Amino acid sequence: MALLMETRLLLRKVKDLRCLTVRWSRVKPKWATTRPKYPATRLALHHFDVAYGSQLGPLWPSVRVALLCEKKYGALINNFSHHDAMAELQLQGCKDFISDTAAAERGGEEVSQSDLQTTSDASVHSNIKCLVFPEETSYLPLLSRPDSDGLLGYYLMDAASVLPCLALDVREGHTVLDLCAAPGGKALTIMQTYDLGFLCVNDSSVSRTMRLRRVLQSYVPKAQLSDAKVHISSFDGTMWGDVERDSFDRVLVDVPCTTDRHSVTEDDNNIFRKNRVGDRRRLPQLQTALLLAGILAARPGGEIVYSTCSLSQQQNQGVVEQAAHLALEQHGIHTQIVDLKPLTQKFSNTFHFAPGLSVGEMVVPHLAANFGPIYMCKLRRLT
Ligand SMILES: C[S@@+](CC[C@H](N)C(=O)[O-])C[C@H]1O[C@@H](n2cnc3c(N)ncnc32)[C@H](O)[C@@H]1O
Repeated sequence: MALLMETRLLLRKVKDLRCLTVRWSRVKPKWATTRPKYPATRLALHHFDVAYGSQLGPLWPSVRVALLCEKKYGALINNFSHHDAMAELQLQGCKDFISDTAAAERGGEEVSQSDLQTTSDASVHSNIKCLVFPEETSYLPLLSRPDSDGLLGYYLMDAASVLPCLALDVREGHTVLDLCAAPGGKALTIMQTYDLGFLCVNDSSVSRTMRLRRVLQSYVPKAQLSDAKVHISSFDGTMWGDVERDSFDRVLVDVPCTTDRHSVTEDDNNIFRKNRVGDRRRLPQLQTALLLAGILAARPGGEIVYSTCSLSQQQNQGVVEQAAHLALEQHGIHTQIVDLKPLTQKFSNTFHFAPGLSVGEMVVPHLAANFGPIYMCKLRRLT
């Protein structure tokens, strides 16, 4: 009898539970209607599997793993700060990959003809110092301390981002335009070089330009920023040619792109979100318009560096070829691609470069050197 009672009680509990379960499943959680079926990071990865699987072939699986793993940082030393951040970081095992390469060259064996040019480049840029840990570790102390003037000692960034600035080969007195400059890592790198004639940093996004201003204020003395030599603007870069043409010695065109590493790891502000399909499809068109504007802004004989943080052939080589074609067809401007091999060869111990690119150079992420992707191509304006 007691057993029968217990069984009945148990059955009632199960029935109650079933009711509960049914009621629960009837109530749709609020997020069920808004939550995307596939997160943007997954869509990005799928897109890259198709596009880069065929573009990079056997290289893609290792690049894919590296993209999904923690990236490695570099610390750009701020020469304007009184802090000896360099010594501090060196004590922790960091090495300046730029001066190390220059020193190796100076102490090295025979110097070839192509190296002659790059050796002089290295001396020009010995002011740029970027420290990385030599081992397979991504750790870098995240906080840089302000000095007595409130200026920070170093800026954390992808160390490969320094390469387009080195390729730009800025010299004393040069006038430089950074067309898409926010949040400002490359502008800050350029400012570490020589005494520039004039630097114009521009970004079409007002909020990002404010961020760029804050970054520069944290690293560059006030006097230098309020000097007429640095100008911060917020124009649509594609229209730059309407304002100013044929004037800059150097132009950096670091365009918006699919930001491959961000796209496979962060859902926030991801260009692979369903509502941003249009933005993504228009990217090559926007990039071409920006590069064309950069070519128009350079003086004849001036040099332009185009860069992205994407592996996409369409956004890289495709854009360079199309912009050079339009410069000639629409404006009668001849350009020439400058070989960056002599520069990248010097850094082959620090970065992995994609083999056999016909136009430009590209750092590809690798587990043992998890920097990039960074694509760069240098053009010289001939007419
Ligand atoms: C890759 S980010 C630049 C990163 C920057 N060079 C750095 O090193 O910190 C691309 C930038 O282009 C800007 N941008 C997008 N469209 C633009 C346009 N039409 N004109 C100028 N800037 C634009 C974006 O706001 C974004 O800040």
